[in-house]
Amino acid sequence: MFSGSLPANGLLLPAFTLLLTRVSSSSVSAPDIPHIAAFFGTKTRYEEVNPHLLRDPVSVNASVLKPPPTERCSPVHLTAVIRHGSRYPTVKNIRRIQRLSELVRGEASRGGGAEEGWLRDLRSRWESWYTEDMDGQLVMKGREDLRLLAQRLASLFPSLLSEENLRSGRISFRTSSKHRCVSSIESFQEGLQQHEYSHQVDDQLMRFFEHCRGYVEGVEKNRTAMLEVDKFKHGDEMDGVRTRMAETLGVPRDRLTPDLVEAAFFLCSYELSIKSVHSPWCFLFDESDAKVLEYKSDLKQYWKRSYGHSINGLSSCPLFHHVFRTLDKAGRPRRSTDAPPEPASILVGHAETLLPLLSLLGLYKDQTPPTASNYHSQHGRSFRTSRIVPYAANLVFVLYDCQRGPRLQLLLNESPVRFPGLEGEDAPLYRDVRATYRHLLDGCDFDRECEGRVVGRGPNIEL
Ligand SMILES: *[C@@H]1O[C@H](CO)[C@@H](O)[C@H](O)[C@H]1NC(C)=O
Ligand SMILES: *[C@@H]1O[C@H](CO)[C@@H](O)[C@H](O)[C@H]1NC(C)=O
Repeated sequence: MFSGSLPANGLLLPAFTLLLTRVSSSSVSAPDIPHIAAFFGTKTRYEEVNPHLLRDPVSVNASVLKPPPTERCSPVHLTAVIRHGSRYPTVKNIRRIQRLSELVRGEASRGGGAEEGWLRDLRSRWESWYTEDMDGQLVMKGREDLRLLAQRLASLFPSLLSEENLRSGRISFRTSSKHRCVSSIESFQEGLQQHEYSHQVDDQLMRFFEHCRGYVEGVEKNRTAMLEVDKFKHGDEMDGVRTRMAETLGVPRDRLTPDLVEAAFFLCSYELSIKSVHSPWCFLFDESDAKVLEYKSDLKQYWKRSYGHSINGLSSCPLFHHVFRTLDKAGRPRRSTDAPPEPASILVGHAETLLPLLSLLGLYKDQTPPTASNYHSQHGRSFRTSRIVPYAANLVFVLYDCQRGPRLQLLLNESPVRFPGLEGEDAPLYRDVRATYRHLLDGCDFDRECEGRVVGRGPNIEL
């Protein structure tokens, strides 16, 4: 089933044994969850957003589907844009973890007899088991994330994700070429009981950000575009976290860089999301430290992938048009002799795929942009990546056939979300949604936005 270069199990065993002995005091049925688990930004587990899944991982809440009860609606199509599941750290973070681990072992001053158990474990027992070949690959838990999501979506939409629709090949599957995404779309298909994998790799669609020159040059390769993030990294709030952590560990403060502070925070997240263990690294942070580090991640995503620069959202125009073309086709009136519409379109990508699309749609936009200097006024912000783009995050467009015409509803991570400007209804008429996004449907042209090319013709009419 799995071909790639995942490390063999044997490699993981020693670390596992050590960790298992450490957590053996806590009950296996109710693994104890670090108190900071809901603040890991894009490294948050899906279960932190939907904690009921910890009790029953396949439970669904059918009342999230909210077409008007008087209009006798039935779902006719769904498009799901899904982020890959839990994964290993990428090489960049694996190297940071190694530097941190060396620093803590080599430099940490012995605290005498009164040292707490977790700190002793950190210094003398914890060993990095991460190797560079793991580079961002999907882990077992990540496969499970996607299998279970598929099962829940299938029980929420039995007529769309049906066995017959699968067997007749009427459901389309597209994915980013990255290994973790391909593994994710395969796991999703396993969850639907489809054992012959079939998908199309489409990076133009799912990794649009690397094909958009305006984005790559204006944001990705542009240090100034991330100014707020850099300032916050060296600002008062991060400094406080860093100083406290250096004192606890007994390492010189100047050697504990902000990147290494973050590596320790991420270690707590990785050990939870990969192995379901409560790592000793978690004890270095209290809730207010975690909120500072969460804010740092949110700042980065805001400026790099979301409202911080308009090109971030505009770079997703190809995906936006793809989704609406699919919905247009599915909602078009048809005679009984016409072929039935495509019941579902499954698109698997990254947090970097979802955030720009959500921004283009105008979701999770706060009045005041988060900056390096307004941390204290941002506690109530809606732009929280821990809630929006955890592992296996998913944005589902549900098209219903209703008496007054087609209606569209959005679900983010299996909860209803309302369209900006159409807040009165969960599932507004599709034509009202189109009217709201008219400016994008008629424009949002990749050549113009990304390549700076003048586009001679009028509206984008690729229907
Ligand atoms: C089910 O979803 C509805 C609508 O989102 C929500 O109000 C309700 O609390 C949910 N029920 C459960 C048991 O989670
Ligand atoms: C880099 O980002 C800054 C700040 O957003 C912007 O003013 C500048 O034009 C960008 N540079 C390039 C080459 O796009």
